[in-house]
Amino acid sequence: MEIKVKSPASSANLGPCFDCAGIALPLYNIVKTKKTNNGKIVVIIDEKGDVRRFEVDEKNIIFQSFKKFHEKTNTEMSGYEVNVETEIPIARGLGSSASVIAGSLIGANELNGKPLREQDLIDIAASVEGHPDNTTPAFTGGFVVASIEDDGKVLYEKIKWCDDWKISVCIPDYKLLTELARSVLPKEINFKDAVYNIQKAAQLITAITNCNENIMRSALKDKIHQPYREKLIPGMVDIIEKLRKEQNVLGCVLSGAGPTLAVITKGDNIDNIKQIVHKIWYDLDIKYQIMTFDPVNQGATVI
Ligand code: HSE
Repeated sequence: MEIKVKSPASSANLGPCFDCAGIALPLYNIVKTKKTNNGKIVVIIDEKGDVRRFEVDEKNIIFQSFKKFHEKTNTEMSGYEVNVETEIPIARGLGSSASVIAGSLIGANELNGKPLREQDLIDIAASVEGHPDNTTPAFTGGFVVASIEDDGKVLYEKIKWCDDWKISVCIPDYKLLTELARSVLPKEINFKDAVYNIQKAAQLITAITNCNENIMRSALKDKIHQPYREKLIPGMVDIIEKLRKEQNVLGCVLSGAGPTLAVITKGDNIDNIKQIVHKIWYDLDIKYQIMTFDPVNQGATVI
């Protein structure tokens, strides 16, 4: 028996909501999971026809997901084979690993008689990833505010996204591992920057709740992670500054840990955005692709 799950990409942080908000996007990983009896966890990644097959251990997120699933259900971990057809570019800040974690956990739950509720799977996924801002929207779809509470459970709430607000993702053709993008963050931040981010995070939620464009324009800013990461993403500061002056642009932020930039616009007329991004990244010899989406309201689903 094989369980096939269609699991979406996501863009986390949206500027100020570091580690606590994300939005699901209609790019997908198809995660096919089956049980084996050899006790091994074998992963097959099919990245647009480039197929790699390998056995994974404790260091791997799929292994950790299955291990935690079996700990939670007090059952012995069997072997699994997981086949991931990736449409979501890997290590680009689009929640590819969160999408795989969600797909693998849903697969394991189905294969073992559905002992866990979605909340349990969401909790396990966040503990594997270390933060809930990509994993939660991978399960729920939509724009989600999420936090890991003191008891380890994820408290989350979806907020309806505004109908004519689009998200364009500008995806450079190089990878940036989240581990590296987190290693450049400071251990402590100064009080003024913390207050700035609290204000912007509050504005972001208000803006989305009320579909208020003016507040959204002010909200899509950050002082606690983007300034530290900009050295890893050539052209980022320039692109953000130039795009902000465009009339249909509500803001431009780092998507998750980067290197993708997420541009939130009113409407989908984005020729001006393409021109600005092209000029800056072309001069820096960076290849990229741009895709424009309506966020997707449906999370990972068995198909
Ligand atoms: N909130 C996370 C970060 C998202 O910015 O590091 C990437 O996993």
